Amino acid sequence: MLFVDVIRRKRDGGELTDEEIGFLVDGLADESLPAEQVSAFAMAAYLNSMSFDEAAKLTLAMARSGAILDWSDGICDGPVVDKHSTGGVGDKVSFLLAPIAAACGCHVPMISGRGLGHTGGTTDKAEAIPGYDTAPDLDRFRDIVADVGCAIIGQTPDLAPADRRFYSIRDVTGTVESVPLITASILSKKIAAGLHGLVMDVKVGNGAFMDDLGAARELANSIIATAARAGLPVHALISDMNEVLGTTAGNALEIDESIRFLRGDAREPRLDEIVIALCAEMLVVAGVETDRGAAARRCDEAVRSGKAAEVFARMVHALGGPTDLLEKPDAYLAKAPVRRAVHARGTLIAVDTHEVGNTIIELGGGRRRVGEALDHSVGFSGFAAVGTALDATTPLATIHAASEQDADLAERKLLAAVTLGDEKPAARPAICETLTG
Ligand code: URA
Repeated sequence: MLFVDVIRRKRDGGELTDEEIGFLVDGLADESLPAEQVSAFAMAAYLNSMSFDEAAKLTLAMARSGAILDWSDGICDGPVVDKHSTGGVGDKVSFLLAPIAAACGCHVPMISGRGLGHTGGTTDKAEAIPGYDTAPDLDRFRDIVADVGCAIIGQTPDLAPADRRFYSIRDVTGTVESVPLITASILSKKIAAGLHGLVMDVKVGNGAFMDDLGAARELANSIIATAARAGLPVHALISDMNEVLGTTAGNALEIDESIRFLRGDAREPRLDEIVIALCAEMLVVAGVETDRGAAARRCDEAVRSGKAAEVFARMVHALGGPTDLLEKPDAYLAKAPVRRAVHARGTLIAVDTHEVGNTIIELGGGRRRVGEALDHSVGFSGFAAVGTALDATTPLATIHAASEQDADLAERKLLAAVTLGDEKPAARPAICETLTG
């Protein structure tokens, strides 16, 4: 078979045969397909989409492109469950939710992604922790999940390798925002992790890949229905992504915020609401709790009691990070040489969150090319929430940059990305909908 014919078929709006899907997935996994052909295919699929059946077959083929974890040996004494986000800016939810869920009796084998398009990636954020190994071998991964309760790692060559390659090419070719491609990408990793249940955080808004509720619902339903074919129960929350989630965006800065959240120093309200709601839904999908209110209270208690922080510290250490990161984050997390508070006058009415994500890429915190190294120290801290009155004492955000020139550029871009006014806008709910299939 010639892959150029597969590209042509998709280019002309046709449906791929099982054989063609197999050829694509094998060529992704063993890297025999060159990047230019994968890019052309990704663009054709982006433009002409895929049928539900085609996307479901692609999902299963990508899931089976490597090992599939099996937890049936009883190594874990609780349900194996996970959460996955469709991607946003400042989304550090995984670092909070995985230890909270583990502290509540779940086991969370989280295989995360790198930055994709304008969004940050959990794997990149984890790598801001010195020594943290995001690619342990599968036996070690399983042991840590069983022993500590959670492990957040990146895509390894063993699990869903086809997605790993496809993801890195989609990242830099403008082909992310596609319901079938996102469905296949997310679920292939999750099916390969052998989960008993999954909660999806489908983000909607100007910092998400889906900018209206209809599209977010379509994606959530696509993921729920495709997962059902593989026997994986999925619940989905649609959450707001029209502003930075929490107060930071940027790899090391987000780890720092996560630590402060788990220590109980600062729990930014929207981040808190989304973390607790998603985590509570994990307990429900896993059958640990039946009532969402009771599940939410249990998650909150796991933070307040310090149990979740303890699990986070154990996970970091088990994966090679420092033993005292929780006590001394400043001693370990990279700091940018230039810090600049950006001031504006007026009430913050709206943020072009996509542009904020792009600015982090310009600062060096995200990728322009496949495989590019990142500067973990850069980004924004103290990002004001929409509705905040900004003045000479309350900044819009603080820029963390490698140079004064970079900070100048980021300041210009940041000021151009916000809308200021006189009146406080109506509050938007952090969680828009819950779908359970
Ligand atoms: N997250 C993924 O893992 N894949 C996508 O395509 C988008 C978000």
